[in-house]
Amino acid sequence: MTEFLRLGVNIDHVATIRNARGGAHPDPIKAAHLASAAGADGITAHLREDRRHISDSDIARLRAEIDLPLNLEMAITEEMGKIALRHKPNACCLVPEKRQEITTEGGLDIAGNNNRINDFSLMLQEKKIRVSLFIDPVEAQIQASANVGADIIELHAGAYSEAFISGDQKRISHELEKLRIGAEIGHSLGLEVHAGHGLGFDTVSAVAAIPQIVELNIGHFLIGEAIFIGLEASIKEIRRLMNKARAATS
Ligand code: PXP
Repeated sequence: MTEFLRLGVNIDHVATIRNARGGAHPDPIKAAHLASAAGADGITAHLREDRRHISDSDIARLRAEIDLPLNLEMAITEEMGKIALRHKPNACCLVPEKRQEITTEGGLDIAGNNNRINDFSLMLQEKKIRVSLFIDPVEAQIQASANVGADIIELHAGAYSEAFISGDQKRISHELEKLRIGAEIGHSLGLEVHAGHGLGFDTVSAVAAIPQIVELNIGHFLIGEAIFIGLEASIKEIRRLMNKARAATS
């Protein structure tokens, strides 16, 4: 039987708009409340080292005010480790972070950083925080994620989303196939499989139809679309598309 597909709403870019002017508006925690009412199954927030969007107090407020599970995206640093242990999110999604990048550009290199990721994951798992590794849909990285004892892999959907924008059908099929195969391998290794990055109304259905994927994390498109149709409507529409694609696979 195909499992239910959860939607994690990433609220980072509500904070991006807030920070453009300083002050408190728009409030990402208000967006999290709204996401909850609109059918999100979890909230995702990326606390970056440079705090360009989500702040430390946003994380504290998310834990105090929001009942949905929190997926805290973060780099593998001592500082972030301490913050995670303090707030105990339901999951930490470990991502590579470069200061100059506009967004998370590629997946983690698990294979090349085995010991470091292993120790960091254990530290979180000992406090009952699930560990998710954001990786490209590449067999060696998926296998390495299983080897370091991750609970979850989040497959980077950015290459698929970019292929979609290019309109190149061959590239689109190739990138989608990589996600399909990656999800199959991850599932067969006992990993929970998530996907995210760059997804929107046009791209979500094909990814939602991959039966081994149980969670999608979506942010930038939803917050952008909210400018035109409102946040509630944009979340409800992505939820509808996800449910429809999923129902067609069972
Ligand atoms: N998943 C991870 C690990 C991410 O780093 C991001 C971007 O912060 C997302 C999902 C959401 O991507 P987008 O904002 O493009 O929907």
